[in-house]
Amino acid sequence: MEKFTLVTGGTGYIGSHTSVALMEAGYQVVIVDNLVNSSKKILSRIEQITGSAPVFIEADLRDTSTIIEIFSDYPITSVVHFAGLKAVGESVEEPVKYYDNNLGSTLSLLDAMALSEVSTLVFSSSATVYSSSEIAPFDEAAELGPTNPYGMSKYFIEQILSDIALGDDEWSIGLLRYFNPIGAHPTGLIGEMPTGIPNNLVPYIMQVAFEKLEKLFIFGDDYETPDGTCIRDYIHVVDLARGHLAALQFLEDANGSHVWNLGTGKGSSVLELVKMVEEVVGKPIPREVVGRRSGDIPVVFADVEKALNELSWRAENTLMQMCVDHWNWQRQNPDGYQ
Ligand code: NAD
Ligand code: WQD
Repeated sequence: MEKFTLVTGGTGYIGSHTSVALMEAGYQVVIVDNLVNSSKKILSRIEQITGSAPVFIEADLRDTSTIIEIFSDYPITSVVHFAGLKAVGESVEEPVKYYDNNLGSTLSLLDAMALSEVSTLVFSSSATVYSSSEIAPFDEAAELGPTNPYGMSKYFIEQILSDIALGDDEWSIGLLRYFNPIGAHPTGLIGEMPTGIPNNLVPYIMQVAFEKLEKLFIFGDDYETPDGTCIRDYIHVVDLARGHLAALQFLEDANGSHVWNLGTGKGSSVLELVKMVEEVVGKPIPREVVGRRSGDIPVVFADVEKALNELSWRAENTLMQMCVDHWNWQRQNPDGYQ
């Protein structure tokens, strides 16, 4: 009998790239997504890339009875759980919405998994769970201490999942802490589709390059870094997707809970990124330096040894390739999947 992997949030940015990676590795994929931040139109794009369409079920993960039904309709043996809300600023303004959606979805999924005796789970966590008092590179043992409700929701879920694995050794759980995913599939068929004005740096720069936005506002150039702007660990979304595959394959032969950073281990500043995009698009990016953004940490990058040692996975794409692929996606799809 064919084995299926349930991908929650699979029509989203990282979930769609991971669905492609899983399908290309021979997995049958069932996507469940309520489309709150994605479009059904991505399904035909996935089909164009992989040659087949994943099963798609439009549902809210908090609807436990529907999720239980999905497990009884398909022989699902593992889950990759992306579904969640992710805007840090919005989470500060509407914390209950974030706790309800992110925790509620996870608890509902866990109920359905337990009932169906499926115990292999990969979870999308974030580098945002690390404490701001830590000094880069961050390894997995670094102190945790998120500073906003979004980050707290990831921290709580990590805690719940670790407790479950501790209480029952049937479970095999991977907590993946992503750094800053950017880029798009090299075909330009799938990529990130921010609604409204992007919050994150690279989607914002790309819209400036495309002349959808007038100029980039650089949030502070007086940090203690070589050029004064903040440093982050940008990782190509396709490398990130491969990381999920590596984690899932590890978990299929393991038990307990495991945590891995997924980053490149290399930091790049805001200005370095702006210059790289200028090189790729062949024109200057209009910009203005403004005040610091509240909550920003000067330097964040990953220690990636654990993922390399345990998963034999490392990020391969350069920052240049990330910018080339992101720009290619932006140019081909100025209005996302419209
Ligand atoms: P995304 O918004 O593109 O994808 C999330 C998907 O989940 C969307 O398609 C959305 O419609 C769906 N969803 C949300 N709530 C749902 C619910 N209750 N039921 C069903 N579907 C629901 O985001 P992404 O960038 O692909 O992120 C995927 C995961 O990775 C998220 O959990 C996010 O917190 C985490 N993450 C993202 C980043 C990043 O920078 N993009 C970094 C670290 C961690
Ligand atoms: C990168 C740098 C900004 C926009 C966020 C979330 C984190 C994770 C990834 C989910 C910073 C600067 C940005 C702009 C700017 N998501 N910047 N002008 O803050 O590292 O991480 O996304 O888990 O939780 O917090 O990424 O892309 O927002 O910012 O100067 O218009 O770019 O100050 O230094 P960040 P980002």
